[in-house]
Amino acid sequence: MASLDDPVEIGGLTLPNRLYRAPLLECAGNGEGAVETLIDELEPTAASGVGLVFQGASIVTPDSGCAAPNMTRVHDPDFVAELSRLTGAVHDHGGRIFLQLAQGGLRSMEVWHAGYRREHPEMEQLAVSRPPWQLRVLDRAGLIDLSPRVLSTTAVYDLAEQFGRAAGYAVDAGYDGIHLSGANMSIVQQFCSPFYNRRDDEFGPDPGEPAAGGRRFLAAIHDAVRDHAGDVPLVTKVPAETVAPKFVRRYLSFDDAVGLATALVDVGYDAVVPVEVSTFWDMSIVRGAYPDRAWDATDLQADYAAAFGSPHYARALKLLNRLQARRFDRESGWNAHLCRAVRDRIDVPVLCEGGIRTRETCDRLLGAGDGDRRPGVDLVGLGRPFYAEPRLGRRLLDGEDALCESCNNCTVPQVTGERGRCRTPSVVRERARLDEQGAYDDESASSTE
Ligand SMILES: Cc1cc2nc3c(=O)[nH]c(=O)nc-3n(C[C@H](O)[C@H](O)[C@H](O)COP(=O)(O)O)c2cc1C
Repeated sequence: MASLDDPVEIGGLTLPNRLYRAPLLECAGNGEGAVETLIDELEPTAASGVGLVFQGASIVTPDSGCAAPNMTRVHDPDFVAELSRLTGAVHDHGGRIFLQLAQGGLRSMEVWHAGYRREHPEMEQLAVSRPPWQLRVLDRAGLIDLSPRVLSTTAVYDLAEQFGRAAGYAVDAGYDGIHLSGANMSIVQQFCSPFYNRRDDEFGPDPGEPAAGGRRFLAAIHDAVRDHAGDVPLVTKVPAETVAPKFVRRYLSFDDAVGLATALVDVGYDAVVPVEVSTFWDMSIVRGAYPDRAWDATDLQADYAAAFGSPHYARALKLLNRLQARRFDRESGWNAHLCRAVRDRIDVPVLCEGGIRTRETCDRLLGAGDGDRRPGVDLVGLGRPFYAEPRLGRRLLDGEDALCESCNNCTVPQVTGERGRCRTPSVVRERARLDEQGAYDDESASSTE
């Protein structure tokens, strides 16, 4: 049975322990101060002893593709070169950092963010196929705004090449590995998903293998990454669309996702992060409570109205969020079942995240599966708890639990461009108290110099 403190290898790279920071939006953008924002956000996490930091989704194309405000783009080699200050800061603490590469496709923010759409009326979204009728209905009703550009076969290879080039720039800037945003409705998930992918070329589904198009797109990205970045460790999220709403008839099933993850190892991926997600914008990736404090914040009301188009529509979304929170209550380690099913089939590391909050859960997930002979997962990751406690690593490695209550007050304000931070007073107070007591201090983790 592995312990959280045990080293582990991904693609030949040794990580000092099995704890990672799941990719989260840093909202750093690309403007002045972007690198400092990223250092402020990620260096404390590395300093706290977390073995692997995944920087949040960063966009490989110069236009469109951002799912939310202030995402960072990584198509420009000069900008990415500046990120060597970030990778250096992480390395100074003995940590490792992977860059997550992404493109939003139909999930891009000009589709749902009214203010952004007004500023960029000409912007088109890369589309795997003609959007499914459910999205076209929302478009016609004026609830979203689609301008899809369906990718030709050549354009798919060009897009894979853009992922590869960004990976090359990242490795030159000192990143230790590449993570692909393969879920959360990103374009990679759209290729994998029979809901989105109706193509009839080599990047479309095969009879009996609905994710074949996604597998081939991920193979094209793999090849482009190898061309530009050599044998850098390469990881991807692998989606199972098991929580798609009932009216979605075609989705990636649990078994499809296990098959896809298995096939990706043959393609050459060094680790996988299996996650159960939806085909739509919903709370499936942030399962937890209805964030009443965030929705009611008086200073954000005007910004919500600007983001969603009107106070009326913002109120409708608030109600939808309340209903969603009932369906997506937080479950501790909600991807564990899928991760273990994948782990049964493959020999590369399987990374598990989603609702993990206690040291006991980390140990249980890393250990042998509940009394049976199946292996545990290889690494465990936490996301929102790092907004609440950027230096959480030290406490978890010391056997303590995270303070995060999965209340989601950190998530909704990000639609206005606000940075992710804990907004729940009881948690913020407790973190301050622990800080005063020195709970986050540890000489051995604070510097390797
Ligand atoms: C605000 C926010 C931003 C996120 N951004 C990303 C991202 O950029 N890429 C990604 O793969 N997952 C992203 N996720 C999902 C997280 O990586 C993680 O899977 C999810 O938060 C569940 O873990 P948790 O319960 O520990 O927060 C994001 C989640 C949140 C809450």
